[in-house]
Amino acid sequence: MENRNTKEQEKTPYLDALKKYVSEDVCPFDVPGHHMGNVQNDFKDFIGEMTYKCDVNAPRGLDNLNHPHGVICRAQELMAKAFNADEAFFLINGTSAGIMAMILATCAAHQKIIVPRNCHKSCINGLVLSGARPIFISPEYDFDLEISNQPRIEDYIRAIDENPDARAIFVIHPTYFGAVLDLKKLVDYAHERGILVLADEAHGCHFGFNKYGPKSAMELGCDLSAASLHKTGGSLTQSSVLLRKGDRVSHYEISKAFALINTTSPSTLLIASLDSARKFLYLHGQEKILEAINLSRYAIDEINKIKGFKAHGKDYFTKQGAYDYDETKLVIELDNLDIDGFTLYKILKDKYNIQMELAETYVVLAIISLGSTFDHIKRLINALKEIAFNHYKEGVKYPKYHYDNPFPKSIVRPRTAYHAPLKVVPLEECENLISKESIMIYPPGIPLIIPGEIFTKEIINRIKQYKKTNATVLSDYENDVSVIDFDTWDLYEKHKKDLEEYYESIKNR
Ligand SMILES: Cc1ncc(COP(=O)(O)O)c(C=O)c1O
Repeated sequence: MENRNTKEQEKTPYLDALKKYVSEDVCPFDVPGHHMGNVQNDFKDFIGEMTYKCDVNAPRGLDNLNHPHGVICRAQELMAKAFNADEAFFLINGTSAGIMAMILATCAAHQKIIVPRNCHKSCINGLVLSGARPIFISPEYDFDLEISNQPRIEDYIRAIDENPDARAIFVIHPTYFGAVLDLKKLVDYAHERGILVLADEAHGCHFGFNKYGPKSAMELGCDLSAASLHKTGGSLTQSSVLLRKGDRVSHYEISKAFALINTTSPSTLLIASLDSARKFLYLHGQEKILEAINLSRYAIDEINKIKGFKAHGKDYFTKQGAYDYDETKLVIELDNLDIDGFTLYKILKDKYNIQMELAETYVVLAIISLGSTFDHIKRLINALKEIAFNHYKEGVKYPKYHYDNPFPKSIVRPRTAYHAPLKVVPLEECENLISKESIMIYPPGIPLIIPGEIFTKEIINRIKQYKKTNATVLSDYENDVSVIDFDTWDLYEKHKKDLEEYYESIKNR
């Protein structure tokens, strides 16, 4: 936040070049073939001609994201400065691509990376692509809300001590529900041991623009961070940024990873939206984020007056063990209602046209952001009052699932399981078999099981439970699951001992 250079950050080099390109009488013979909207198209009629005019490839005039030397370079430099980074790479396939690139750029096959098990599926996908060996640590689990928070810092430190050869640690900054850990302490500890720190800032891209809240991954010294500008920074969906600080990871290593996963046809709309969102964040971010936080605090106070709901913010999460909290997240717990969180989420949209970010069994989550208004908050509060009137029942008892271990045991690397021979079995019959897939409810996209982990009765029941709700369960098959076919698996003998030890360990449960 210090050393502000407002004059420089007022510039939008990419957006300016795009405006210029569109205003000139270009005769297009390149793709996209709609040639600046020169087609009859219902979507164009709906969204407006300018969107199509701006959707160009323009190898001459607008630079090349895969080999930037002109306006993209300048726009990325401004982004890096705004985010306190040494370098910024625009992402046009979301933070998911940034997370995969961070892992690909830093971890070779079999190298260890310490990962909180409640990571997003893109991290697991990064492990499949790179072949890195995850050392999973468990997050703290809130059994009342049935959500996972951050791992304890001690658990990260123990994992580092036990795996001094780890190449990197992966951190979520903040979690979907806003919990933040003592990242500075962790970064220092990891760096003293030569270990890289990679941050998933999908939900924290605004941190660097609010000096009264948690600091950003770049300010705290992380080596790389992938941040979703489209989530909390005001750019278009899918546009994010990968940030690099220091010289532990090179420009070359990151570019090489992007060459593997990036499209060769990046969207000009997304890039321009990044350029202008960065300017807005830099110039007005502080004021808008404080407004959002005030709205969130107001909402908490008002919702807590409604019998049927408990709204949670910083106080709750710090009591649960979080080091700090992102107050733009508003977590609403159901209390004595005869519906679950998924049904509340559905009622809010279907009856009140209020779109929440996500639901879990006992909570719904609202993102209060740059675009939130007092009117939106009032609508939510009024809807919740009416829903409580219809659904509050004194003495409703929610089943609480006090899972022994919310995450199953991993037997082989995600990549090994991904490439192992496939057997498709009914969900009821997969206990004690190794998963080849990630299964999750989406959002939030935190897998219940990932490739390489063993199906337990508990996980099977949780998947069945979720399938009975309005939650969207993502899996490879509708009713079946994909597991490793032990009969044809050439690595079975190699892993047989681990499997037998596991079966022995669960015998007396
Ligand atoms: C914690 C977390 N990390 C990463 C991602 C991926 O971000 P994106 O949607 O920008 O690809 C998400 C998306 O929801 C997320 O919740």
